[in-house]
Amino acid sequence: MPKDPDTMAGGTSSPSLGGAGPRHIAIIMDGNGRWAQARGRPRLFGHHAGAKRVREVVEACPGLGVEYLTIFAFSTENWKRTQVEVAGLMSLFRRYISKEMKALATRNVRVRFIGDRLRLDSKLVKLMDQLELETSANVGTHLTIALNYGGRDEVARATKRLARDVAEGTLNPEDIDEETLPRYLDTHVLPDPDLVIRTSGEARISNFLLWQSAYAEYEFIDTLWPDFTATELARLCDRYGRRERRFGAVNT
Ligand code: FPP
Repeated sequence: MPKDPDTMAGGTSSPSLGGAGPRHIAIIMDGNGRWAQARGRPRLFGHHAGAKRVREVVEACPGLGVEYLTIFAFSTENWKRTQVEVAGLMSLFRRYISKEMKALATRNVRVRFIGDRLRLDSKLVKLMDQLELETSANVGTHLTIALNYGGRDEVARATKRLARDVAEGTLNPEDIDEETLPRYLDTHVLPDPDLVIRTSGEARISNFLLWQSAYAEYEFIDTLWPDFTATELARLCDRYGRRERRFGAVNT
């Protein structure tokens, strides 16, 4: 059973009328490849341009009242890309962590990674551990980076741990309810996302935060990720604030 004093999971969402901005935004950063191709450049050029947008978006969060930002950097399905692209992305992640470590630590950003680390290169995992540790005392923006992450894979890994606890007798199957599984998910210390944004015009969620986004609001926008700006993020936060979230209830 994962034990963490910080645990906040458990679907504590309650109905609210529009007004407040999103507390937790999750982003599927799509369109890097097309952005590069439109400029006659290799796909990795687009990923590098995309990595630059991450800093602007993270820095915009405090001003918009966004406490949690979760970004999809590499999915369990992305291994199907060419060896050149996968190796280039892994090298980009290592460089990004090394380069941004100091700025993230001093700007009060707390970084966490979600996803299965087992298939990742040990040098990258070491840097991920180091970045988590270096920023662990920060209480500003909570930045979660999904790396080798898949929602179904996460649920399968969580179920395995849950089944182990049942087998060991520390969890009674009769006590399992919808508050139980989230405590075993990679995101167990995070609140559910309020708003999920996908760039590049595709309207699908591609295995991202499947359990956690059950009641999220969605924004599918045409902008390619390397063109996404803090101004556009502010516009989406504003639009979110004008939506009515009911979580299945009826507001009177
Ligand atoms: C999807 O665009 C994007 C990815 C698979 C990688 C996302 C990675 C970054 C934005 C780079 C940096 C991230 C961090 C955390 C440093 P795509 O390649 O599928 O684009 P396409 O649909 O146009 O082909």
